[in-house]
Amino acid sequence: MTSAMTNATLRYAHLKSRHCSAVLEISDHEAPLWRYWGPRLPEGALPDFSLRAARATPTFSLEEDVPLSLFPTFGVGWFGSSALLAHRQGQDFAQAMTGCEVIWQKQDHALRVRMADSVASLEVEIDLGLDPETDTLTVSTKLTNTGSGILDVQWLAAAVLPLPSQARQVRSYTGRHNSEFVMQETALGRGIWRRENRRGLTSHDAFPGAVTSAPAADAHSGLSYGAQLAWSGNHAQLIEWLEDGRYQWQLGEWLAPGEVRLGPGESLQTPEVLSTCSLAGLNGVAAGFHKAIRSRLNWPGAEMSPRPVGLNTWEGVYFDLKPTALFEMATAAADAGIERFVLDDGWFQGRRSDRAGLGDWWTDLSVFPEGLGPLAKHVNDLGMDFGLWVEPEMINPDSELFRAHPDWALQIADRPLLTARNQLVLDLTRPEVSAYLLNKIGALLDALPIAYLKWDHNRDLTTAGSLGRPAYRRQTQAAYALMDQIRQGWPKVEIEACAGGGGRIDAGVLQHTHRVWTSDCIDAVSRVAIQRGFLQFFPPEVMGAHVGASPAHSTGRSQSMNFRAAVALPGHFGVELDLRQLSFAESETLKGWITLYKALRDQLHHGQVWLGEGDDSLLWQAHGQAEDLLIFVYRLGPMTQKWPSNLRLPMVDEDKVYRVEEVRARPSLNAAAAKVFDDYRSEGVVLHGAWLAHQGLPLPSRKAETCQIYRVRTLDRLS
Ligand code: GLA
Repeated sequence: MTSAMTNATLRYAHLKSRHCSAVLEISDHEAPLWRYWGPRLPEGALPDFSLRAARATPTFSLEEDVPLSLFPTFGVGWFGSSALLAHRQGQDFAQAMTGCEVIWQKQDHALRVRMADSVASLEVEIDLGLDPETDTLTVSTKLTNTGSGILDVQWLAAAVLPLPSQARQVRSYTGRHNSEFVMQETALGRGIWRRENRRGLTSHDAFPGAVTSAPAADAHSGLSYGAQLAWSGNHAQLIEWLEDGRYQWQLGEWLAPGEVRLGPGESLQTPEVLSTCSLAGLNGVAAGFHKAIRSRLNWPGAEMSPRPVGLNTWEGVYFDLKPTALFEMATAAADAGIERFVLDDGWFQGRRSDRAGLGDWWTDLSVFPEGLGPLAKHVNDLGMDFGLWVEPEMINPDSELFRAHPDWALQIADRPLLTARNQLVLDLTRPEVSAYLLNKIGALLDALPIAYLKWDHNRDLTTAGSLGRPAYRRQTQAAYALMDQIRQGWPKVEIEACAGGGGRIDAGVLQHTHRVWTSDCIDAVSRVAIQRGFLQFFPPEVMGAHVGASPAHSTGRSQSMNFRAAVALPGHFGVELDLRQLSFAESETLKGWITLYKALRDQLHHGQVWLGEGDDSLLWQAHGQAEDLLIFVYRLGPMTQKWPSNLRLPMVDEDKVYRVEEVRARPSLNAAAAKVFDDYRSEGVVLHGAWLAHQGLPLPSRKAETCQIYRVRTLDRLS
């Protein structure tokens, strides 16, 4: 029975991917109604009655039922949060779409909904795409002022997503400098859950995304949804309970008062929201996000090259830069197998500490009398790439640039300039400022063989005014534009996004850069949690992960070289310490890990990631495919059980037989003390997939702050 036979006016738009469906009910005179977003529905599964046909009018209610739409707006029957808050000098404060057309751009997978409000004189275009391979639902919104006066916009949701009543739990991420991706779980009630960020960049404390799931869902199974805003500026998201038991999830830019005032014919285009749903729990959501981010990364040469092992000078020598020492560090790095040498902060004019110099982007000849050329050549001659730290968006009041152009800092007349880390933020929205930066960084890129820029941003935005108007969103757009200009001019250069570690980690910046510095905290115990939060949204190859010194500078805790290296191994691996200070034994151990990383990076950086928890506080993660997995088993605290529980591996193929081997950077002398554990280290142990999935992998007892790595491969993969 087709819908046309029973209900001539019922029209659906059904977006489909391999595992997901999104269904809108379309009419010509209102915004499309959300009917469904969830696991893939087969052909013929859509009911032949409209949403309103199954909703009687409750007491004390409007006769005109206004259910959740793709663009619910305030004032004409919708009582929930509005996708738009706008007015025209106090008028046109209420909006409702009066016309709607749907334009398919890719049948079944991508469409544009074009709507108009003929009363408030607005046009709204919403692009939705459901990627057949990644299951990612991508949504963005464009608002155009078709009236004659100025339209003041306070909020425009980039996406309004429907969540079913089961999605009652939200995992969101908070934190601070040195402690990013602190996960918090909140039960959704009858009200609004809301997170906002007004710091002007993505922020350490409010990640612009979340994961929601049914209470019965876990890491590996159950209905789960995720969404993240691809944007590096201010943002807001809310999840609101609706009176029909569903929730709406809105994400978008947080706009400062007066920030968006659209003149006649002008438009506001939102960033994109990436969202996904899965019946495979939190790991299913992560898999969708990883595929989506991978498909959007824009690599030099179009394809990711193996992620080189880096040496970053920061925690090794901080501002104490001396050419002789740096030459020695580079030699030691090459000897250890390192492939990229990154000269961090302190190399440019007047930068002897964090009190001066930002803005003066030329080499300080009092430190490098012959410039950086000889060091870069030495690095290249040793077979390594040369990378350089910059912080283009910043200026120290104590700099030649500020003395020449004090007006170039973001500011508000008669307000004090508030410094953080002794610095102010440059107004990139002024063309002459961006041109200055392009010129200065371009001169460095022309003069030196720079393969990599570490692009930092070490403070929040305050008094972010430009010519009297809020400049937040334009500042973010200008930073993206500057990155793009650099990439166009010097297409082989890779960029790392850093903001005091993880202050600018989002899917937006990753369209302009190639990795992020996950956290300034390199303490391996802290890093386990930070990286697990990160991996919920982003793939491991863009996760900067370094082996730092012991004790860790950020926490004072000490960990073994093996543990530090094992925690960094799955990411984009690097070293951030003074190699010259290591003992012979430590340096040999580190070399072993560098060799191991090179052998495993292909599998680590192309596969799926599963995160899990074992008994007795064990944490684990698996990388690869079901037939060939690398399992990292992290024990952070001491055991409380006498024998460890087995580790069940839910992702293996239950029809296949596997061989389990322990992977080690170097053979170690300590005995495993039981036959199976010795066998893991020699010929391997054969176990059936069904056994691994349901009974689990036997594990040896281990002390706190240790990691075991196992390779679990099907026998046919071994031959
Ligand atoms: C920030 C970064 C560090 C380092 C310093 C240099 O804190 O996160 O990695 O580059 O700046 O000043």
